[in-house]
Amino acid sequence: MKTFREPKKLQKWCRERKLEGRKIALVPTMGYLHEGHVSLIEKARRMGADEIVVSVFVNPVQFGPNEDYAKYPRDARADYAKCRAAGATAVFFPTPENMYLDRHSVYVNEEDLSKGLCGARRPGHFRGVCTVVAKLFNLAHPDFAVFGQKDYQQAQVIKRMVRDLNFDLKIVVAPIVREPSGLARSSRNTYLSADGRERALAISRSLKGIRIGRTARAESARIRRELEAAGLVVDYVEFVDGETLEPAKTARKGVTALVAAYCGRTRLIDNRVL
Ligand code: PAF
Repeated sequence: MKTFREPKKLQKWCRERKLEGRKIALVPTMGYLHEGHVSLIEKARRMGADEIVVSVFVNPVQFGPNEDYAKYPRDARADYAKCRAAGATAVFFPTPENMYLDRHSVYVNEEDLSKGLCGARRPGHFRGVCTVVAKLFNLAHPDFAVFGQKDYQQAQVIKRMVRDLNFDLKIVVAPIVREPSGLARSSRNTYLSADGRERALAISRSLKGIRIGRTARAESARIRRELEAAGLVVDYVEFVDGETLEPAKTARKGVTALVAAYCGRTRLIDNRVL
């Protein structure tokens, strides 16, 4: 497995592989890899990629000033081993300095799908995500890139960016990977205490309990109650059209239910495509 730190070196290597006709998959991550990430690498392998490039980069631009950028968990050694074991052929570990050169001044803004949900609570977040992902696309020349459904809004925003900016690649969205308890796998789960983990289960449980055909209002209220009863602080509970992310009136097929809630100081997200 190749390791790159310099954007230019990754770009050169990928360009050469592409000229040889090799099919390149990109799996963008912020590291501290867990089984969810591994499933993205495996998905790329099953889809017939000849080269699987995993980027490991805690992107400072997508964190707000009061968010967890500094304490976001990092473990490059373990990430390297997991990438290798999962079948990645290259890992990219850039530094903030070589991704964002002095006086970096160009950003990518998606202005529709990023407005609500996490975009409304985390100003600038999707601008940071779109910017870094666009850069990674330009560096890795992927035929396709794999993202996790856990970040549902992110996947929709990136699909829109690809469409609107004519990136020549396909976005693949892989299903949420859960712990046996139901908790959606996330690098941020490492912040949770044993008690927090227990309480956080209310998120997946309440999503699982959605009854098709009921009004979004009734189901949102029920989910809220269940989260609050578990001692979580609700950031949002929303039912939206799975593509436009516009509010939906009914819990029905084509709708996605999304939750963001705080368990202590840890912000957790989860969703269910109905
Ligand atoms: O989903 C993530 O881990 C990040 O938002 C991404 C896509 C790697 C961009 O930094």
